[in-house]
Amino acid sequence: MTLSGPYVALRALARRRFGLSFPPVRAANFERGVAEVCRSLALTPAELLARMLAHDPVAEAQLASALTVGETYFFRDPPHFDRVREHLARLAAADPHRQFVLWSAGCATGEEAWTLAIMAHEVLGPSAAWRVRVLGTDLDARALDHAARGVYRAWSFRQGQRPDPRWFTRDGSAWRVSSGLRRMVRFRPLNLRHADDAPRHVDVALCRNVLLYFDADGIAAAARALDRALAPDGLLITGPSDPSIAAHVALRASIEQGVLLYRPPRSTAAPPPIERTAPSTAPAAPHAVTADRTHDRTAADDVPRETDAPIDDTDDSDDLDALDRAIARDPLDLDAWTRRALARLDRCDTQGALDDALRATLLGGRAPWAHTVAAMAAHAADDRDRAALHARNALALLTPDDDTPAHAAARAVCLAIARRRLSR
Ligand SMILES: C[S@@+](CC[C@H](N)C(=O)[O-])C[C@H]1O[C@@H](n2cnc3c(N)ncnc32)[C@H](O)[C@@H]1O
Repeated sequence: MTLSGPYVALRALARRRFGLSFPPVRAANFERGVAEVCRSLALTPAELLARMLAHDPVAEAQLASALTVGETYFFRDPPHFDRVREHLARLAAADPHRQFVLWSAGCATGEEAWTLAIMAHEVLGPSAAWRVRVLGTDLDARALDHAARGVYRAWSFRQGQRPDPRWFTRDGSAWRVSSGLRRMVRFRPLNLRHADDAPRHVDVALCRNVLLYFDADGIAAAARALDRALAPDGLLITGPSDPSIAAHVALRASIEQGVLLYRPPRSTAAPPPIERTAPSTAPAAPHAVTADRTHDRTAADDVPRETDAPIDDTDDSDDLDALDRAIARDPLDLDAWTRRALARLDRCDTQGALDDALRATLLGGRAPWAHTVAAMAAHAADDRDRAALHARNALALLTPDDDTPAHAAARAVCLAIARRRLSR
């Protein structure tokens, strides 16, 4: 589906103002969101565009709310909260008087922020009430109103959870957050695309399931805001399907017990040893890398891995069984993920190839061959935007004056995909 007329201009505004990306596969969601706002304000799309261009706050707030996805629930992704518990316990043990700031960036209706407060009580006991402040921020003002009300229905306690009577009281068919937690948690609007007023000295930041809806500029802007926000020994966790932010900031990425974590490069918090487990099963969304980055660290720098070798070898690198075994032996083997993606592509397993290639780009944010194969797989899957993005990434990363056949071929393929001149 392609958009036309005022929709195209509105989509460009959504990208610039909110960082939100609406590729063709999500064009219908975009049109639905615009139609909802037009109905609510009794406007045509052209009139809505005019209001947006005039920075009408009502139109802007309603459009932000209609275009965002507010899916969330308490204790979503429990392993993330295990890592937060460990981190908080370590910092608290080092300084029993320390006070903490925990930030839920993109908190939607607030469940994540309240979960942080509950978890702080679990770690610190009653002293959490005075030692911990939790901030929940979001673009969507309507979601923030809900968050501040703190009243939730059963759907917010998914996956067999029961609201704990220590933190919730019954309110008709819903549950109300206790006054003890309310004293610890504040909510306020914050647009991560333009986040000059983001909090500072944050000990734990969660920015989960937010960046996957962003375009490359939005990811970079949010990454910088999160980077600036962290205390020197702070911890950041993104969602399993979020793109890596390692290409945009100097934060040090590591995978601990299957969770991707970011810490400032000279963090004084001693992380536990890295366990070599696979990252979560969801493939990463595409992210842009730039050739002229200020910082040169990526997730791949911190993850033990083999090199991102050229992909034209003629040995048994194409043997799927051998590649399956290599990945089972070492789930962080970037080279094996890249080669298996290529082997699957050769066998017309387009989706498998794309999943593997995206995993490879997550492990090796600046690995040219991973991006090359991701571009080819996305192209084969007819995901043109993703293909072009990875092709541009690969072109930025491939050594420009390397004339070996593998490099020349990769550059030619990526150029064609970036310019969309390649037939499948
Ligand atoms: C899927 S929810 C994630 C909620 C929660 N973090 C979780 O993982 O359960 C995504 C949230 O990101 C918010 N969001 C989208 N664009 C944003 C932006 N530019 N700045 C701040 N929040 C944004 C949306 O409003 C939405 O509430």
